[in-house]
Amino acid sequence: MLSLAHTIARNPRTASRTWPAETVVYLPDGNTIHSLNETASVVWEFLIHRPTVAQIVRHVAHEFEVSEEQATQDVKTLLETLAARNLVIFSGGLDDGNARGVSATARESDKAERQIPLLYRIKDRAREQNIPMHALLELTNNCNLWCRHCYITHRPAKGELTLDEIKPILDQLADLGVLFLTLTGGEALSRKDFFSIAEYARQRDFSFSLFTNGTLITPSVADRLKELALERAEISILGATAATHDAITQVEGSFEKAIEGARLLIDRGINVQLKTTWMKLNIDESEEIRDLVDSLGVTSFRGGNLIIHRRDGSSENSSLAAEESQMRAMQQRRLDRHPGAQLPPDPPPLSEEQKKDIIPCGAGQTSLRIDAYGNVYPCAAINVLLGDAKTTPLAEIWYGSEELEKIRAIRLADLPECSACALWQRCTRCAGLALMETGSLFAASPQACRVARIQHKFLEEKQCELQ
Ligand SMILES: C[S@@+](CC[C@H](N)C(=O)[O-])C[C@H]1O[C@@H](n2cnc3c(N)ncnc32)[C@H](O)[C@@H]1O
Ligand code: SF4
Ligand code: SF4
Repeated sequence: MLSLAHTIARNPRTASRTWPAETVVYLPDGNTIHSLNETASVVWEFLIHRPTVAQIVRHVAHEFEVSEEQATQDVKTLLETLAARNLVIFSGGLDDGNARGVSATARESDKAERQIPLLYRIKDRAREQNIPMHALLELTNNCNLWCRHCYITHRPAKGELTLDEIKPILDQLADLGVLFLTLTGGEALSRKDFFSIAEYARQRDFSFSLFTNGTLITPSVADRLKELALERAEISILGATAATHDAITQVEGSFEKAIEGARLLIDRGINVQLKTTWMKLNIDESEEIRDLVDSLGVTSFRGGNLIIHRRDGSSENSSLAAEESQMRAMQQRRLDRHPGAQLPPDPPPLSEEQKKDIIPCGAGQTSLRIDAYGNVYPCAAINVLLGDAKTTPLAEIWYGSEELEKIRAIRLADLPECSACALWQRCTRCAGLALMETGSLFAASPQACRVARIQHKFLEEKQCELQ
């Protein structure tokens, strides 16, 4: 039973951000997200002082002008709920540990019932309130690998942001409401001061994830990432065999190191997502890559078909796109593997009214990207420069950029070809790639069209065969 003498602290593995009228709290262990109302937010803020329950009661009574008797029950109920969700830690009371007894069952049911709808609601609120809940921070263009498809250019990097320049940027991102921070590159772990940056990000209460090639993850790197409550690592696996992966990265031994890196994180209970870009060089191993993923026990896997042009404007890497016959063979292997799996039915067509509301691309809605030099962009792929974070306050860029305003306003109805396209709901069009390919953010993307048509044709043929 919680007593007034208990001392309460936030679980140090949580990340949180207070937005108008709510605080969003994320816990990587169990991958849960929570929304606290205004009253709970006041308590959450106060917990940084590691107060006793009695002190919290006095604080709440004062803030909300209620009697201490009235506040006591509410505070205790709230703290027990937070403990059940593993968001706070009790110590120093008469019977420590009771809260933990409550927690296991409450946490499980809480997670199952609340998480997905809650995440959508939080994203909607961020969009409505124009809060960038997510930022992608490219720490360097430098990398120890030379992947043949990579869009990153300009190596070795000169004039990249220093730790002293990154800290005020992180401060501003926190002030803007960013909770989820992705550290990427190039290879972010190649920066000698990577952990100083990550530690500062955690001090500022960000939840951080890492995009990495995995090769620089040693046991001690994995230990430090665990200590810092890394939310998720996304590791690129570009083949099911060393021969294929290393031929793409152009560095021998990179496959073994990437797999070892993934294992070290998985062993420590860190969420790991493996991801790949399907190319003519690796798509024939699609099922073997999936088997590898399953054998490692990673949290999830994602494969993408689009190849973004290089940042220097060259589209020469597009020649790596898989052949139509390879893409069809991949779809066929999937189907052979899962013969009972239903072919997805055609989604119902969208009305003209719906098209006016649908946001075709999330860029700039609730996220932004800052490159290794401090240049600010709407996302990883749209290379429309919004400003320089070294010289312009981020709030001025986020709230004041006319370019960003225009991008945010784009709706499906504004895209002449895509809004009339029957494949829209199955298409993975990327607005940034469309801009690179055609010069327009409103155009269809030839690469996306090609992929969508090949996949659709295959499905149509299979459906005919079934009839
Ligand atoms: C640029 S890398 C940076 C992080 C890290 N070095 C890695 O490889 O995961 C981020 C992701 O973009 C993918 N990528 C690189 N070039 C790409 C391109 N031209 N088109 C699509 N994805 C690309 C990589 O495979 C990787 O999954
Ligand atoms: S590891 Fe990542 S940054 Fe490095 S070359 Fe490959 S895709 Fe590019
Ligand atoms: S990119 Fe092409 S396939 Fe995709 S919705 Fe637009 S027109 Fe259709």
